[in-house]
Amino acid sequence: MSNFAEITLEGKTYQLPIVIGTEGEKAIDITKLRDMTGYITLDSGYKNTGATKSAITFLDGDKGILRYRGYPIEQLAEKSSFLEVAFLLIYGYLPKAEELKKFVYEVTTHTLVNEDVKKIYSGFPVNAHPMGVLCALVSSLSAFYPIPTDIKNTEIVDLTIYRLLAKVPTLAAWTYKNSQGHPVNYPKNNLSYAANFLHMMFSLPVEDYEVNPVVADALDKLLILHADHEQNCSTSTVRLAGSSHVTLYAAIAAGISALWGPLHGGANQEVLEMLEAIRADGGNVKKYIEKAKDKNSGFRLMGFGHRVYKNFDPRAKIIKKACDDVLKALGVHDPILDIAQELEQAALNDSYFIERKLYPNVDFYSGIIYKAIGIPTNMFTVMFAIGRLPGWIAQWREMRLDGEPISRPRQIYIGEKQRDYVPIDQR
Ligand code: SDX
Repeated sequence: MSNFAEITLEGKTYQLPIVIGTEGEKAIDITKLRDMTGYITLDSGYKNTGATKSAITFLDGDKGILRYRGYPIEQLAEKSSFLEVAFLLIYGYLPKAEELKKFVYEVTTHTLVNEDVKKIYSGFPVNAHPMGVLCALVSSLSAFYPIPTDIKNTEIVDLTIYRLLAKVPTLAAWTYKNSQGHPVNYPKNNLSYAANFLHMMFSLPVEDYEVNPVVADALDKLLILHADHEQNCSTSTVRLAGSSHVTLYAAIAAGISALWGPLHGGANQEVLEMLEAIRADGGNVKKYIEKAKDKNSGFRLMGFGHRVYKNFDPRAKIIKKACDDVLKALGVHDPILDIAQELEQAALNDSYFIERKLYPNVDFYSGIIYKAIGIPTNMFTVMFAIGRLPGWIAQWREMRLDGEPISRPRQIYIGEKQRDYVPIDQR
């Protein structure tokens, strides 16, 4: 196979290098295209454009494969823990026992946030969407820790990583408590990462709160499944913002904003609201399938379809099984799950979805588990953000360590040609 592509423009032929990845993915390197030819490429939504070379996560959308640093998601979900997966994604290898112990210790001992953060909460209306509050609070960490994230200063970079992994669950739980008018719960160092979050979310000063181990395990697994997903919208936002060398806190806050969108991480909230609407409408699944197929309806089957997966999203399969297990363990029978399964079967047997290779994605079942463990619907995307945090951090760290330049895409201008200013009395 030739190691370059040829392109002929205005009678001249140019050669562009071919790049082949570890798993055989092929790219044409157009780094020098504009200098050589005066042409740029156009690719709205970057459906055909690779923004970088990365060693962190591999997806095969046709085969439904997802691996973090080469390890299949199915094995990590079954055998690993969220903090071990965070270490793997960020530092690139499975930690030895001592390394993991130190990492867990560092994260555990940075879970407190500055008491002045409470003043920021008091400025928000109680009905503010938690993603907007979380974004503001993570951005505020740049004020409490104004040290520039100099990528060469590994001590500061690692400390910033510990602080983010440790404090974001605290900020998220405090956001929820503030919206309920409840006193916040301080983190407890003797609890695991997931158990600590559940404690901060659901403990009340008036009674003891015992974390259900089934729920804590399910939550840890959900966080693993959300931890990274190569160059998705929010991760690309973190890399783009980070390429201007802002602090890691600011780059993560940008990622939180992008994740909030209903076409991206906001879909898990939309899925639950859609399922609830179908239930309220008498469970008429067929009607909603037809609506989703009607371009004029403006309605999409939320939790279905994916830019990369044209087969089952492997995460959806694992979450669906976890969903059954958690509901059974909690003795919960949620009619929403029946509607979800009926909707899935109807869509998977409908030519519209089959032709467009639309399968359930990570967001289709996750909300049902969150609901079963008591997480309110408007906190679902916050859960996604907590899970995605190590992936965002890993991708930012890789981009900075690789010394990537500031991201500054080109454009093709299609506006007015030059024209002279017209005084207002002549318009
Ligand atoms: C996440 O990128 C990632 O990796 C994201 C993520 C991660 O881990 O970071 O996996 C997390 O964001 C999962 C996706 C969550 N979003 C949703 O569930 C929202 C519903 N799904 C879609 O809106 C859509 O499928 C996207 C946004 C996920 C993907 O959109 P694409 O790749 O741009 O595809 P498209 O919009 O061009 O759709 C192709 C066709 C269109 O029909 P035609 O114009 O060809 O006739 O499929 C149709 C679309 O109308 N279509 C849907 C549909 N999704 C696509 N029709 C009905 N319901 C849907 N859900």
